[in-house]
Amino acid sequence: MRSKIFANWKEYKTAIEAREWLLAVGPELSENDPFEIILCAPYVYLAELVQIVRDAEYPILIGAQDVSRYAEGAYTGEVSAKMLESVGVGWSLVGHSERRGGFGDNNEVVAEKVKRCRENGIEPLVLVRDAEDLIPEGSSYFGWEPVSAIGTGAAIAPSEAAHEIEKLKGASAMTGLYGGSVDVGNVGVYLAYNNVNGVVIGSASRDPHKFIQLLNALR
Ligand code: PGA
Repeated sequence: MRSKIFANWKEYKTAIEAREWLLAVGPELSENDPFEIILCAPYVYLAELVQIVRDAEYPILIGAQDVSRYAEGAYTGEVSAKMLESVGVGWSLVGHSERRGGFGDNNEVVAEKVKRCRENGIEPLVLVRDAEDLIPEGSSYFGWEPVSAIGTGAAIAPSEAAHEIEKLKGASAMTGLYGGSVDVGNVGVYLAYNNVNGVVIGSASRDPHKFIQLLNALR
């Protein structure tokens, strides 16, 4: 299985910067790469990014960073899984630490969001900070992102990350990823562990040229 690399832009980039990133990174990617990229962009750019990918046939997937817990209704400001699916988005992050910590995404909300994704053909990547954060039953993908490592430069030692991911996986067939200060210097070490099937990259995914260097380090 190819490693999954999630680029999480968070609340960064203008429309022009979003387009420039994809037009720089897209042509560098190949179906034969040992990894596949899922670009998680702000909602407002998703439809256009999907269109660019389709037109240029770039081997990259487009994902959202969050999704509504509700199917539809009078929920001003929310974006549903069905809406995401309708513009060609295939993935969504669910339960990122910044959502759990700052926007009330507790385990119940996360479980509802995962359900909405499943009902609409969106594959959720459930992110957890520690053992208190539950991975909903039947999830296929999870990422372990300890708070101390997110955006701090204090990445968790790869052997420890591999150990934690193994514990979270238990006897399940889930695919486990690591996130937290992954960069060009350490990404290969994480992915060298059999049970680390991918990484979630925030800061080091923002600059397209640095991101290309990171990918080159894996080839
Ligand atoms: P970071 O963010 O790579 O900047 O630590 C990771 C994340 O929040 O998903």
